[in-house]
Amino acid sequence: MAEWFKAHAWKVCILEMESRVRIPSSLQKNSYINKNQIMYNSKISGLGMYVPENVVTNDDLSKIMDTSNEWIIERTGIRERRHIKKGDGNSTVVMGVKAAKIAIDRAGIHKDEIDLILFATLSPDFYFPGSGVLAQDQLEIPNCPAMDIRNQCSGFIYAISTADQFIKTGMYKNILVIGSENHSGGLDFTTRGRGVSVIFGDGAGAAVVTREDNLSKGILSSHLHSEGKYAEELSLIGPSTNRWVPEILEANDPDDISYYPYMNGQLVFKNAVVRFSEVIMEGLNKNNLQPDQIDMLIPHQANLRISQFVQKKFGLSDDQVYNNIQKYGNTTAGSIPIALTEAWEEGKINSGDIVVLAAFGSGFTWGSSIIKW
Ligand code: COA
Repeated sequence: MAEWFKAHAWKVCILEMESRVRIPSSLQKNSYINKNQIMYNSKISGLGMYVPENVVTNDDLSKIMDTSNEWIIERTGIRERRHIKKGDGNSTVVMGVKAAKIAIDRAGIHKDEIDLILFATLSPDFYFPGSGVLAQDQLEIPNCPAMDIRNQCSGFIYAISTADQFIKTGMYKNILVIGSENHSGGLDFTTRGRGVSVIFGDGAGAAVVTREDNLSKGILSSHLHSEGKYAEELSLIGPSTNRWVPEILEANDPDDISYYPYMNGQLVFKNAVVRFSEVIMEGLNKNNLQPDQIDMLIPHQANLRISQFVQKKFGLSDDQVYNNIQKYGNTTAGSIPIALTEAWEEGKINSGDIVVLAAFGSGFTWGSSIIKW
């Protein structure tokens, strides 16, 4: 017997590997891709969110830097945000996984039915590997592919659009999309950094995107754009391969602010209001919709003033736009799934509604998704 095993060890090895190989559920059912025809739509079948318990108010910030509750509310609409507290066990991936578990549960599927994980973040747990594989491990999903999306505030829209393409071609059936950020660990909480650090908060949201056979329902279209010439206008360039670790250690410069995010606030604001409006209009035009047909607009929670500008431009009522930046600040890739989850939990999104997601942010990148719920 021992002899046989020795001679056939490679077969045993292959058999063992085969038993571990997981074929995506969609491919098991003989679905072939017809390049000329969209076979399926995709829909959001489950949503979840998680924010750390630690609430940081504007007054808390004004104790550690020269700012005020009035200034922050007037310019941004933010009243408080959540920050991970050292020792609370949270990280970008941990928060993302907490949100994902809720989304998977609400989608009514088992975690092993997830065919692909897309993780959008600008604040990954590790430099490498990406947060997608770390989330996969924590969710204990054995072999599905996991991919990171690096598109900052537009990350969730880019991820939703990517998921939609994989589902429309028939490749995958259930895709887990996570948007999560741990900003607080890397912000400059001195007066020097106040223009940036009062805006951002920590938190995560997740969605399960699932095959929809009815082509008039689900994600109708997504529209993505970028303009790399503004890459450094909202950026964090310190931790990069431009200057590797030995150089950083040698410089040991406490005044090197390249390790904190930089934002040209006014340029970002001016571009945001234009690009938000353009990309929402692009999505509406593509689907022959008028602004008054929007049941719910979920803008990326960049700044309440930007959302209000867009709301006014399209003549939308308060019931047609969802904002929760007042409670959470700007959670970048987490902001749209967090807002979408809360709007859905509050019963503000119902079957048949036209839901518009729109984002603008670092890159610059921007995008929209038009969904018939
Ligand atoms: N508290 C108090 N004062 C502050 C401050 C703070 N947190 N941050 C900046 N200031 C001060 C500045 O130092 C400056 O003072 P000075 O005039 O004495 O030099 C003054 O306020 C105005 O600064 P400025 O940067 O011109 O402010 P602003 O009116 O452009 O508002 C933002 C700043 C960041 C609120 C605004 O530019 C903005 O919202 N931009 C878009 C940001 C955004 O949406 N980012 C996310 C994109 S996804």
